[in-house]
Amino acid sequence: MTAAPEAEARATCAPGARGVGCGKVILLGEHSVVHGRPALAAALPRGAQAEARALEHGPSTARFVFADARVDVTSDPEASHPLGRALCALLATYESAPPVHVHVQLDLPAGAGLGASAAMGVAISDALDALTATVRSPSERATQTLAWERVFHGNPSGVDNTMAAVGGVALFTRGAALERVRLRQPLLLVVGHSGEASETKEMVALVAQQLEREPARIGELFDAIAVLVRNARLALEAGDLRALGQLMDMNHTLLSALMLSTPRLEQLCAAAREAGALGAKVTGAGGGGCMVALAPDAVVAERVLTALRALGAESFVAEVGP
Ligand code: PMV
Repeated sequence: MTAAPEAEARATCAPGARGVGCGKVILLGEHSVVHGRPALAAALPRGAQAEARALEHGPSTARFVFADARVDVTSDPEASHPLGRALCALLATYESAPPVHVHVQLDLPAGAGLGASAAMGVAISDALDALTATVRSPSERATQTLAWERVFHGNPSGVDNTMAAVGGVALFTRGAALERVRLRQPLLLVVGHSGEASETKEMVALVAQQLEREPARIGELFDAIAVLVRNARLALEAGDLRALGQLMDMNHTLLSALMLSTPRLEQLCAAAREAGALGAKVTGAGGGGCMVALAPDAVVAERVLTALRALGAESFVAEVGP
């Protein structure tokens, strides 16, 4: 990462520098990824957009626009709203950023397992870099935005901010180099929202408690998920969607054993399979939030979407991949 010498001069005159960050779905491996096992994740074609403007005077501020709410915050390590603390943590990664106002638009449901917080952090970082003429690679952005993610998640694996910054489909293992996955064909995913709110921090803590109480059993369960993840990668690379769907179903069963599913998520996964999905599972933190289903083609994707919507679930189809 390099800061151009004229960065400060540009910062005061460049208006409305823009940035973007992707949302993500975890195809397999959420939670065990916090404890060092691999996860297979795909960036979503939707996420967050940010626009940053330099201010004459501090403090830095931000407005976040969600589908149903607006939140205005000031950058402050003691801010009552986590977005204010996260903005402060992100700005602290710049050696000499001017005071800024950032406008962020989120095109994903928040608190739903789709990496909304990471998408916002990456979009802001991208906009701030444009504003300050900072050159940063996607993997450097992934490292930088961990400071932002920690405010929300306590102990994030880093998969969300990595996918938000880097895009595509990849095998992520904490502390190891990201492994890109080459797909034979685009994947058609149907994402359905349970309508139940979930806090990633709480769900991660719930799993950590189970691991502490029963390290051998839960460790074995994580190892079993890791095997599913590695096989899913092979299935993806071979274009074997049927096998991938089965592996997603198996991962869902193990996530349920960790108490991360809910009756509503079970209902949505069952409806997706009934409508022809090759597999369906909780995605992200669980305990509410979203499920994801794998469709073999566009006709089935539409059928799954209709089935989920008939149950009142806010849903969308996402095409991810090459
Ligand atoms: O709920 P989300 O979108 O923040 O996804 C969390 C994924 C976890 O594996 C549960 C946590 C993590 O840091 O990897």
